[in-house]
Amino acid sequence: MEENHERRSWEAWAHVLPTLAYRACVACGLDERRNPCQLFGQPGVLAGFNDKRVCASWLASIVEDYRKAAERAKAAGFDGVELHAGNGYLPDQFLQDGINKRTDMYGGSIENRSRFLLQVVDAMVSVWGGNRVAVRIAPSGTWNGVSDSNPIALFDYVARQLNRFGLAYLHIIEPRIKGNVLTSEGQGHVAAARLRKIFTGKIIAAGGFEPDTAEAAVREGDADLVAFGRHFVANPDLPKRIRLGLPLNAYDRDTFYTFDARGYTDYPFYEQRSASLASTL
Ligand SMILES: Cc1cc2nc3c(=O)[nH]c(=O)nc-3n(C[C@H](O)[C@H](O)[C@H](O)COP(=O)(O)O)c2cc1C
Repeated sequence: MEENHERRSWEAWAHVLPTLAYRACVACGLDERRNPCQLFGQPGVLAGFNDKRVCASWLASIVEDYRKAAERAKAAGFDGVELHAGNGYLPDQFLQDGINKRTDMYGGSIENRSRFLLQVVDAMVSVWGGNRVAVRIAPSGTWNGVSDSNPIALFDYVARQLNRFGLAYLHIIEPRIKGNVLTSEGQGHVAAARLRKIFTGKIIAAGGFEPDTAEAAVREGDADLVAFGRHFVANPDLPKRIRLGLPLNAYDRDTFYTFDARGYTDYPFYEQRSASLASTL
């Protein structure tokens, strides 16, 4: 089941892979241009970006792409932008040494592996100012094939470096979650609790929270806010249900990462559910 979700996520990436690979080849003067996928291999979107043949000047153009994306978000009227640097997304592929095998200034030491993320954040902050930019990280996350030999040292460093930007918040996915699957029963909000002592701004914790454990995390000071994934998908009125202590709809995992509206727009509001239950009595 879990593999299915990861595969669907790969399939979505496969559409952009050849374009990205082609751009890398053009920028870096590589021969693989005739068959760009050779550069990335299968399922190499992860490894390919970290191949040392993908040159630093191309990476500079990717940083520029993030800056342009931030500008477009601003022009479109967004309130701010969150950089996804967890779950094996591009900045995470640089951060974690299980996947980053580069030998240049973007690989090796923690400082080098953090360079791409910090350059991207810098670019986004240049558009919005720090207080309208946020970063999402997944310390010890292994979704999309990433892993790290020393996640504590890595993410302590990242959190400390991010302090300089005055970000709107740091969004932390707990290690007990792989993608949207709980991998470790009963594990507390360890990442938020740890990074809270290092990161000086607001913290949003996510992953494996129930309404009561979310309240506890905020009460104990490990997070300022808690984000919900699966419960929000299944409960269009989630804040109201939590506020009033109402029961939650159960989510249907089979509809995650599917390509139509089923499982995204058809979960009932609490009143609808109660009405349909009452009509069957
Ligand atoms: C249907 C669905 C789609 C998701 N899509 C993404 C995604 O595209 N990228 C990502 O990093 N996380 C994705 N997530 C993970 C959530 O952002 C969240 O981190 C995860 O569900 C854990 O929180 P939860 O325990 O409250 O569900 C998705 C989750 C669900 C249920």
